[in-house]
Amino acid sequence: SSILVICGGLSHERDVSLSSGHRVAGFLEDAGWSVRLHDMDSELLDYLSNPETHPDVVWPLLHGANGEDGSIRDILEMEDVPYVGSRAKASRTAWSKPIAKNVVRKAGLHTPHSVTLPESMFRELGATKVIDLLVNSVGLPLFIKPTMGGSAMGCTLVTDAEQLPQAMVSCFAYGNVALVEKAVVGTEVSVSVLEIDGEAVALPPLEIDTPNGTYDYDARYTPGPTEFFIPARVERSILDELRTEALTAHKALGLRDISRTDFIVDKHGVPQFLESNVTPGMTDTSLLPESALAAGYHLADLYSRIVESVLS
Ligand code: DAL
Ligand code: MG
Repeated sequence: SSILVICGGLSHERDVSLSSGHRVAGFLEDAGWSVRLHDMDSELLDYLSNPETHPDVVWPLLHGANGEDGSIRDILEMEDVPYVGSRAKASRTAWSKPIAKNVVRKAGLHTPHSVTLPESMFRELGATKVIDLLVNSVGLPLFIKPTMGGSAMGCTLVTDAEQLPQAMVSCFAYGNVALVEKAVVGTEVSVSVLEIDGEAVALPPLEIDTPNGTYDYDARYTPGPTEFFIPARVERSILDELRTEALTAHKALGLRDISRTDFIVDKHGVPQFLESNVTPGMTDTSLLPESALAAGYHLADLYSRIVESVLS
C-alpha cells in the first residue's frame, strides 16, 4: 500500500511539521511501506483524485492552523481517503483551547481558571483597564496564549502586571483572541494516547524539566538542555490518574488514533489539563516518540501498526 505523508503547510509550525513528516516517513519506509511526502498546497486535491498518484492512506502531519483545525481533514473526508488521526470535527474542538477546556471539565477533569480576551476588546479598553481586569479575574502569575496555536508560539508567562500589554501584543500576532489562564505551579507532564485496532492506551506520563522553567519553542526543538523523566517523578497513584485522564480527554474530545494531552500536576497532586494535541509533534525531540520508546516500542513498528489499523 502507498502512504502519503502531508507536512509543511502554511502555519507558524511549518518547520516543525516538515521535521515530523520526514521523521515519520523515514520510519514507515524502514518498515517497508511506499511513502510519498507532500507539502500541503493547492495541488493536493488533484493529487488525491488522480488514479496515478492516489494514495491508499494519508497521514496528515501538519501542525497548527490548517493541520489541526480540521480543514485538511475536511478535504480528506470529502475525497473519501482513509487517513491517520482525528476527524475534522474533533480536531476543531480540540484545536480551540477554551472549547477543549470546557469539554474536558464536563468530563470531570480539572483545568486552570481562564478567560478569553479578543484583540478588539484590548484595543477598546486600553492597556490599563485590561491589566486591572485580568489581574482581578485571573490573578498573577498567568499565561497569555493564542486560543489556537502550538509549539508555545505567542505564549508568555506573566509574573508582573507590567509585562501584560507586551504579552498581549505578542499573542495577537498569532490570532485575534487570547486565552488568559492562571499559571499553575507544578510539574509539567505530557501523556500520549495511541489507539490501535480500536483499543486506546495511554503511554507512560513524561515529565518535562526545562532549565529556565518554561517549555518554549527553543526548549522544544533544541536538543540538549530540556530533560525528560519517564515515568514522571510523581506518585504512582498520580501516574495512574494521569493516564486515565489522558484517555478521558481523548474520548471526550472525540480524538482518534493518536493524541497527546498536556497537564500540570499542581502542588496538591491534581493534574490540571492544559490542552490535547490533535497532531502531536513527531520530531527528534518530540514527546510522543520519546514516550513510545520508553514504553518499549520500536517506532518503525509502531507507526506501521497505526497505519495498518487505519487500513483495516
Ligand atoms: N504543537 C507541537 C507540534 C506539539 O504539540 O508537539
Ligand atoms: Mg500544543
